[in-house]
Amino acid sequence: MGEQAEREKEVGGGVGVSVERRGAIAIWTIDRPERMNALSRAVVRELGRLAREAEGDAELRAVVITGAGDKAFCAGADLKERRSMDMEDVRDFLPLYRSSFGRIDRLGVPTVAAINGVAYGGGLELALACDFRVAASHVKLGLTETSLGIIPGAGGTQRLTRIIGEARAKELIVFARRITADEAEALGVVNRVAAEGQSALDATLEWIAPLEHAAPIAIAAALDAIDAASNTTLEEGLSIERACYDRTLVSEDRLEALAAFADKRKPEFKGR
Ligand code: COA
Repeated sequence: MGEQAEREKEVGGGVGVSVERRGAIAIWTIDRPERMNALSRAVVRELGRLAREAEGDAELRAVVITGAGDKAFCAGADLKERRSMDMEDVRDFLPLYRSSFGRIDRLGVPTVAAINGVAYGGGLELALACDFRVAASHVKLGLTETSLGIIPGAGGTQRLTRIIGEARAKELIVFARRITADEAEALGVVNRVAAEGQSALDATLEWIAPLEHAAPIAIAAALDAIDAASNTTLEEGLSIERACYDRTLVSEDRLEALAAFADKRKPEFKGR
């Protein structure tokens, strides 16, 4: 089936992801509440397309990924679609996860999962591909795949381990544990939990508001340097940090910050 035809086949005739722009912040909402915002092929493909588009957006300062409603951020793979897929189809699907989530992971602007409802399986793996996670207080999360006879296949074993460490990752994955927002915060799976009654999206937008005026070259360089930390030796990591620092050294934004400090005013960063 062609890409376009597959898109049109999606629930509601859309691609299952709605997009909103608030100033310099993009909000991508997985919009399939009747399937608990599960990840169909079309949704995973669309997330990758949006990330590719975001790579070339010089005005963008952050991306928030969330789900429609307050029941589900994303209940993982679309298990109904999965039933119509044979083993080869599933095998073919995994690289799509890898490329779409990989693009989100590598995006040069901060990405935040605003976890508005349950995040299971691929849903949590999507959140783990983001730089930050903010959960509503009522949500539950888990890499539940082993309870379905599989393992996380969209980066969960690698990303969760890098984020919270081996022993805790094994505990969550091997026991297919479904944890509360507070437990997730204590384990370091999420950065923050919204106040009771506050939506994950509102809590996220409030928290990331300063990014709207932050220095984008410095932010991108910091993300790259930090991402390298879990993948290299200390010596290699220090070289990467140095190369990332150099990107900021030649920026106009650095000079603007020095001028603003001297003038006792707020800097106006342009991303140059
Ligand atoms: N894929 C496709 N459809 C899904 C889905 C998924 N991953 N998760 C839920 N849905 C659908 C249900 O089939 C149901 O549709 P129906 O009304 O046509 O029967 C609808 O969403 C509502 O789900 P329901 O189970 O009735 O709601 P609930 O509030 O009782 O429970 C969940 C919600 C998410 C806890 C539960 O559906 C669940 O455990 N889903 C599977 C999650 C999972 O293990 N994901 C990992 C995949 S690797």
